[in-house]
Amino acid sequence: MTRVSVLACLVLSGIACTQTSQPLIELPAHFPEPVYQFKGNPVSQAGIDLGKLLFNDPLLSADSTIACASCHHQAFAFADGGKALSTGIKNQKGRRNAPGIFNVQWHPYFMADGGVNHLEVMPLAPITDTLEMGESIRQMITKLRRSTFYPAFFKSAFGTDSIYTRNVMLALAQYMGTLVSAHAKYDDVLQGKAKFTKEESEGKKLFEQHCATCHAGVLFSDFKFRSNGLDTSFEKDRGRARVTDTKADEGKFVTPSLRNVALTAPYMHDGRFETLSRVLQHYVHEIKPSAATDSILIKKKINLSAKQQQAVIAFLHTLTDSAFITNKKLVP
Ligand code: HEC
Ligand code: HEC
Repeated sequence: MTRVSVLACLVLSGIACTQTSQPLIELPAHFPEPVYQFKGNPVSQAGIDLGKLLFNDPLLSADSTIACASCHHQAFAFADGGKALSTGIKNQKGRRNAPGIFNVQWHPYFMADGGVNHLEVMPLAPITDTLEMGESIRQMITKLRRSTFYPAFFKSAFGTDSIYTRNVMLALAQYMGTLVSAHAKYDDVLQGKAKFTKEESEGKKLFEQHCATCHAGVLFSDFKFRSNGLDTSFEKDRGRARVTDTKADEGKFVTPSLRNVALTAPYMHDGRFETLSRVLQHYVHEIKPSAATDSILIKKKINLSAKQQQAVIAFLHTLTDSAFITNKKLVP
C-alpha cells in the first residue's frame, strides 16, 4: 500500500482504518508528522517482507554469523537485552549500547551522536563497521546475487531481480518503518481507553516537571544533543563532537526516547546503569557539573524523595508496549 492510502486512512480516522484497509505502516493519530515519509520508497508488503528477511539474515555480515537481529531483539523492543555493549563478528565488543528500534521514521538522525542522518543509509553503518558486521557493501551484494532465493524477493518488491545496494537499503527502511510503537498504557490513557493508577499519575506529574523538557512529547525526545551530567571528561566517547569535531559538542548525546524503557536496560550510551532506580539515583544525586552539562540540570536540581522516584519509575513502566514486542508480524 502506498503513502496515499496511509493518509486516506488517517483522514477516515483510526476506526475506518482497522475495519477496511489496515495500512502497512501505521501512522498513529496522536503522533506528529514523520520526518521520513517513504517518498521515493513506496511501501509494499513484498518490500517489508524482504526487509524483514534481510534484517534477520547473518549473510549480511563478513563471516555470515551476525544479523541485524543478533543485536536488536523484539522481546527488548529491538534493543540488545541486558548487554551494555553488543558483540559483533569475531566476538568483538562494540563501542556503544544498542538502543531499541522503533518509531524510526520520526527520528531526524540516528546513533547516540546523530552520526547518520537518513533512514535509507542507516544500515550501511552497522554492515560496514568492523566491530559489528564487518562486511563490504560490494561483497554483501555479491552474496545476495548468488543466493537462490533473494532475486525472486527483490523482483516482487522492486520489479527487478537485479540486486543493488539502494534496493537493499529501501527494503530495510520499509521493514524498520513497520516497527511503530504507539500502544503502551500511556497511549491508551491519552486516548481515554485506560486510567493511570494514583502512583502513575503522580509519576507523570513529576516527569513533566523534571524530565519532559528533554524527553519531550509523545516520542519522549526533543532530538537535541545534550549532556545529562554523567561525566566530566570525554576521552572515552566524545559524543556529538565525534561528528562535528567541535569542542562545544563534547560529551553531548541525543536525548533518547523513553518509550519501552523498562525493556531496554542497561541505560545510557555505554550501558553503565543497570536499572531505572540507578538512573533516577543519577538524576537526583549524581549530576556532574561540566562545560557540557545541560543548564536545565544545573539551574534546577532534581529533588525527588525515594517514593517520588518510585512514582516516576511506575510512570515509565506505562510506556511499555506489550503489543509491539509480541506482534508476530514483525519477526520472521
Ligand atoms: C553488533 C551489534 C549490532 C548489529 C549487528 C546491528 N546493530 Fe544497530 N545498533 C547497534 C548499536 C550499538 C547502536 C547504537 C550505535 C550508536 O549510538 O553509536 C545501533 C543503532 C541502530 C539504529 C539507530 C537507532 C537510534 O535510535 O538512533 C538503527 C536504526 C539500527 N541500529 C539498525 C540496524 C540495522 C538495520 C542493522 C543491520 C543492517 C543493525 N542495526 C545491526 C548494534 C548493532
Ligand atoms: C537536560 C535534558 C534531560 C533531562 C532534564 C532528563 N534527561 Fe534523561 N537523558 C538525557 C540525555 C541526553 C540522555 C542520554 C545520555 C547518554 O546516553 O549518555 C538521557 C538518558 C536517559 C535515560 C536512559 C535511556 C536509555 O535508553 O539509555 C533514562 C532512563 C532517562 N534519561 C530518564 C530521565 C528521567 C526519568 C528524567 C527526569 C528525572 C530525565 N531523564 C531528565 C537528557 C535529559
